[in-house]
Amino acid sequence: MTRHDTLLQWIEEVKLLCQPDAVRWCDGSQAEYDEMCALLVANGTFIKLNEAKRPNSFLARSNPNDVARVEDRTFICSNRKVDAGPTNNWMAPADMKAMLRPLFSGCMKGRTMYVVPFCMGPLGSPFSVIGVEVTDSPYVVVSMKIMTRMGKPVLDQLGEGGEFVPCLHSVGKPLAPGEKDVPWPCSDTKYIVHFPEERAIWSYGSGYGGNALLGKKCLALRIASVKGRDEGWMAEHMLISGVESPDGRKTYVAAAFPSACGKTNFAMLVPPPAYEGWKVTTVGDDIAWLRPGSDGRLWATNPEAGYFGVAPGTSWTSNPNAMASCEKNTIFTNVALTDDGDVWWEGMTKELPAHLIDWRGEDWTPGCGRPSSHPNSRFTAPAHQCPTIDPDWEKPEGVPIDAIIFGGRRATTMPLVFQAFNWVHGVFLGANMGSETTAAAAGAVGTVRRDPMAMLPFCGYNMGDYFAHWLGMRRRVKDLPRVFHVNWFRKDADGKFLWPGFSENMRVLEWVVKRCRGEGRGHETQLGWMPRYSEMTWKGMEEFGPPEFDKVMQVDIKEFRQEILSAGELYIDLYDHMPKEMVFQRELLVGRF
Ligand code: OXD
Ligand code: MN
Repeated sequence: MTRHDTLLQWIEEVKLLCQPDAVRWCDGSQAEYDEMCALLVANGTFIKLNEAKRPNSFLARSNPNDVARVEDRTFICSNRKVDAGPTNNWMAPADMKAMLRPLFSGCMKGRTMYVVPFCMGPLGSPFSVIGVEVTDSPYVVVSMKIMTRMGKPVLDQLGEGGEFVPCLHSVGKPLAPGEKDVPWPCSDTKYIVHFPEERAIWSYGSGYGGNALLGKKCLALRIASVKGRDEGWMAEHMLISGVESPDGRKTYVAAAFPSACGKTNFAMLVPPPAYEGWKVTTVGDDIAWLRPGSDGRLWATNPEAGYFGVAPGTSWTSNPNAMASCEKNTIFTNVALTDDGDVWWEGMTKELPAHLIDWRGEDWTPGCGRPSSHPNSRFTAPAHQCPTIDPDWEKPEGVPIDAIIFGGRRATTMPLVFQAFNWVHGVFLGANMGSETTAAAAGAVGTVRRDPMAMLPFCGYNMGDYFAHWLGMRRRVKDLPRVFHVNWFRKDADGKFLWPGFSENMRVLEWVVKRCRGEGRGHETQLGWMPRYSEMTWKGMEEFGPPEFDKVMQVDIKEFRQEILSAGELYIDLYDHMPKEMVFQRELLVGRF
């Protein structure tokens, strides 16, 4: 397969350590994918869906102990603790390896070890990063085929001496001779470990999502953020989309929202009927790599090749483009199975099916008191199946970004939209981002947590240094993007949403685009620049008048006092690495209030 000595040597080492029954190099072909899917069906991991309804698609049900990213089991093992910072779990690399080696020893017994060469970013692009994931999970192999460029072409690209990130993965469930496998093997002991200086990843015990598909959160965010710091670019937890106005002008935006805050919906936004002639196109829905271009602008690429989208809430009304993306060639995980062999999840249709098999494999009927699908259930679908995929989504140099949007899920305090005064203020807004927690990560749901730039679980180094890196982009990028903050989730005292969201977010996006193009006056407030009611388009939403607008845009001094105090905790945690600019911005904000 390859004559890359370092790679061959590493594979030999892993083989000796993990002791698989067999080793298979994956070529990434369709034949291989079909064969692996058939194997997964035979193993009971996959259920083949009705070919007429959902061609070439499968349903997997995970172990109920393996349904989300495990942030408390995720480690950044930099050489020095201070380089991981207080927001990451840390252990010295040698100690971590000494602890993990016994776990990995013999962990693939009774299984096949798959070697999965993959590329984050288009093949052949100078900005792409190659990884090789060694895994004992065929589910991971087929998922990597959708989520990355994978297989032989990557090895060809790597040549005999190219750089790659070694990614070691095991579900942590060796099989004794003759032992029957379970549909979703995993272990109660889980470790998701990054060695940022060595640029290596070791993941043990989970087969789910970001824990196991190591190109995504582990490589394209945690390792890439460190690489970006060292090389002068940024790896961000951002969607990328293009907005084309009727006159044919196109403006690209990148937006950071914490997990499961409707990022995929926003990336695939369908403008409301009043926006005839406007088009929103999708470059990516989760990760953006941002680089200074030779023209002085900031350019963005999506390193992924597929969507790993949250299923519940996705419908032909809320996100028709996501629904179209997963109409075929899709892997569903932890959603419900219909009696006619298709999938269903909460929010897909208004009427509930009379009977389903739920994500645990049990009978489900409306009113049984349980959701049919896990709240973090997912579809894994090829990006090119999205009807709004941007024609330039695979361009090696990416697309030029004019706006960066930060947002969180906030029932109170944060207005619908405002614009930062300048880049430093924008970085401050991103650094102070807060959001109510969701099901994408294990743990409590619904409490506000600080999630700077939506990167808290994904930054591979000290968060204070990360802010400094953001600030430093000023020197590298002449024509910096404008920065905005949005909140689609504000509620009134009765818990009713004050903003309809979804398609109507186009009205906010239009204002953002106008501001970037030097149109739209805005007015200055304590928080930043805000639109006046009269500056936004309300055609088709006339029932939303100035009183409703005032409510969703309101800045309440009492609430903000609380906000400033609660955001202050981060400053205490990061005090010795927090750039002075952030402290001064905080003072300025207090002063404005
Ligand atoms: C994701 C996440 O899966 O952010 O994208 O958790
Ligand atoms: Mn994400």
